[in-house]
Amino acid sequence: MTLGGTLTLGGDLEVHRLGFGAMRITGEGVWGPPPDDDAALAVLRRAVELGVDLIDTADSYGPAVSEELIAEALHPYPDGLSIATKGGLERGGPGQWSRNGRPEHLRVACEASLRRLRVDRIDLYQLHAPDPDVPYEDSVGTLKALQDEGKIRHVGVSNVSPEQLEQARAIVDVVTVQNRFNLTDRSSADVLAVCERDGIGFFPWFPLAAGELAKPGGAVAGIAESHDATTGQVALAWLLQRSPVMLAIPGTGSVDHLEENLAAAQLTLGDDEMVTLEAAG
Ligand SMILES: NC(=O)c1ccc[n+]([C@@H]2O[C@H](COP(=O)([O-])OP(=O)(O)OC[C@H]3O[C@@H](n4cnc5c(N)ncnc54)[C@H](OP(=O)(O)O)[C@@H]3O)[C@@H](O)[C@H]2O)c1
Repeated sequence: MTLGGTLTLGGDLEVHRLGFGAMRITGEGVWGPPPDDDAALAVLRRAVELGVDLIDTADSYGPAVSEELIAEALHPYPDGLSIATKGGLERGGPGQWSRNGRPEHLRVACEASLRRLRVDRIDLYQLHAPDPDVPYEDSVGTLKALQDEGKIRHVGVSNVSPEQLEQARAIVDVVTVQNRFNLTDRSSADVLAVCERDGIGFFPWFPLAAGELAKPGGAVAGIAESHDATTGQVALAWLLQRSPVMLAIPGTGSVDHLEENLAAAQLTLGDDEMVTLEAAG
């Protein structure tokens, strides 16, 4: 599969623009093991079989569960497969997330991810979110130190404003930003514009969301019908066509859904459809 063509992160990490988000291969509320371990392992293996070369995860998914399943399914990793993980969030229970950007926490988190993923160096390590109780420079500075020590190849940030992105870039070469962005939430369009201008990869999380637009009579539903596609496929195709720096990471615990999502890369929306979808937001 072409998977939306490729994007080169940080000048040397070439990956397809349609990847896989591994948050949904855990239990309810992104907590604990998935309902069926074998099904989760099958999804990961099928993703790689179909050409996915970028899997996004985080230490907090499970916690630990997602990273452990990735290693179990795919280690030793095939050439060209990159795993992107994150640190900076802690879990108290299902659906509960709290921020921890303290340098000592980030160090321990990164070391634990290295062990779970069974690698000497993490291809892309992302600071999951700014912690309001810790100066952002201190958190980002820790990732820079870990990079200097050879534990991280590339650094990314997530859930940032344009100002926070600028702050991070003053400290380290930021190669990706991961913010929520989809047909119904374009509040990070300003951050995306900076990424596009400067060639930084943009991972839109919750990419499949189309809300009311996907309901019968909605703009997305109509376009999907005319292409004999699903509304999720239109949502993904829109993202990929929206910007050359977009790298979508839809997540699922189902092989059928995975295959459907990856097939979205074959869908080309017309200029008029892109205009309609742009206006529908
Ligand atoms: N940086 C951050 O703060 C942050 C936050 C959230 C997510 N993320 C990352 O972004 C990735 C994607 O985000 P997301 O999981 O929130 O949103 P998403 O990929 O847009 O949506 C996933 C949801 O849609 C369902 N789904 C997937 N494919 C489907 C299909 N073809 N048909 C019907 N339902 C389908 C999944 O359920 P099934 O399992 O039943 O398919 C799941 O409930 C995550 O995996 C994670 O890596 C990052």
